[in-house]
Amino acid sequence: MKTLLVTGSSGLIGSEVVAGFSGDGWEVHGVDNNMRADFFGPQGDTRWNLQRIREAHPAFKHHELDIRNRPAVLELLRSVSPDAVVHAAAQPSHDLAASRPFDDFDVNAVGTLNLLEAARLAAPEAPFVHMSTNKVYGDAPNEIALVEKDTRWDYGDPDYADGIRETFRIDQSKHSLFGASKVAADVMVQEYGRYFGMGTCCLRGGCLTGPNHSGVELHGFLSYLIKCNLEGRTYRVFGYKGKQVRDNIHSHDVVAFMKRFIAAPRKGEVYNLGGGRANSVSILEAFGLISEISGKPMKHEYVDQNRQGDHICYISNLDKLKAHFPGWGITKDLRTTFEEIHAAWLRR
Ligand SMILES: NC(=O)c1ccc[n+]([C@@H]2O[C@H](COP(=O)([O-])OP(=O)(O)OC[C@H]3O[C@@H](n4cnc5c(N)ncnc54)[C@H](O)[C@@H]3O)[C@@H](O)[C@H]2O)c1
Repeated sequence: MKTLLVTGSSGLIGSEVVAGFSGDGWEVHGVDNNMRADFFGPQGDTRWNLQRIREAHPAFKHHELDIRNRPAVLELLRSVSPDAVVHAAAQPSHDLAASRPFDDFDVNAVGTLNLLEAARLAAPEAPFVHMSTNKVYGDAPNEIALVEKDTRWDYGDPDYADGIRETFRIDQSKHSLFGASKVAADVMVQEYGRYFGMGTCCLRGGCLTGPNHSGVELHGFLSYLIKCNLEGRTYRVFGYKGKQVRDNIHSHDVVAFMKRFIAAPRKGEVYNLGGGRANSVSILEAFGLISEISGKPMKHEYVDQNRQGDHICYISNLDKLKAHFPGWGITKDLRTTFEEIHAAWLRR
């Protein structure tokens, strides 16, 4: 039986990893200390999700551990000796980082280094998949010529018709402190591939979403937007006329990609992993779609000031992923994803 270690296992992506690999017969060890509740308060609490995965996967082994605890991380890697590592624990919010700069950097950058070095010492052959983010590109995507349409901004430059590629520059733009700590981690993961020859990759996520997100205003845009619609709460739109565009990928399709990478790892790769153009949506369009699904109007208020460093239009180019792993593709379209999140909030 193969063994997987996943960090952030009570979160959106981590819990999908637990389900996906347990379902394939792997022994799965998860690391999570519920720090999301510390970052975002009770609404960010992930215990309900831990309980859910424990019930669904009785063989799953949970480790209540802080990835900032370097000796404990090494000890765990030595005792589990995994065949693969997925690193999905993080301080994930662009906006929150400015108020908690040390926690953000200690978790995102130093925590990643703790895991990489422990993996190199204890399990150097294990493929290491790191959840990075499109925020490593800072706000440089906002320099691409845009056109304003009725409900969304779109790229005016035909070079970007299929989205942003991995060759896009990562420096000399505004990242937010979160984007900067994730750049440090991203480059370190590449380095453990290139310098030490480990099978590593960085998945630079667009908007990752799904029914098991503990969505809050500061993180998990679709999950939070759909929750607001359901509860009749007012959703605040920050700038860009509500026409800002995100490409959304269901956590199921994220994990499907991880499985392919782990089965055929490469060294120090980076991939832009989002929903691509077909799964892109603006905030205004998302309001329309959820109202159609729920039958409820969307209450919202407009705040003139956009979030610092926020993307106006971000669509991931998926060509590299598909070229390296031809069997992989998006299986959950936007509507299905909305419906699943909506149904999950109704249940919760
Ligand atoms: N959700 C998105 O839209 C999105 C987009 C791009 C990139 N990402 C990246 O994907 C990864 C997973 O995101 P997510 O949406 O699943 O986040 P999430 O907040 O749902 O899950 C992260 C988990 O990590 C745990 N955690 C945080 N600090 C920890 C620590 N010090 N020790 C142990 N556990 C800790 C949290 O409690 C939480 O359960 C993150 O690296 C994030 O930056 C997410």
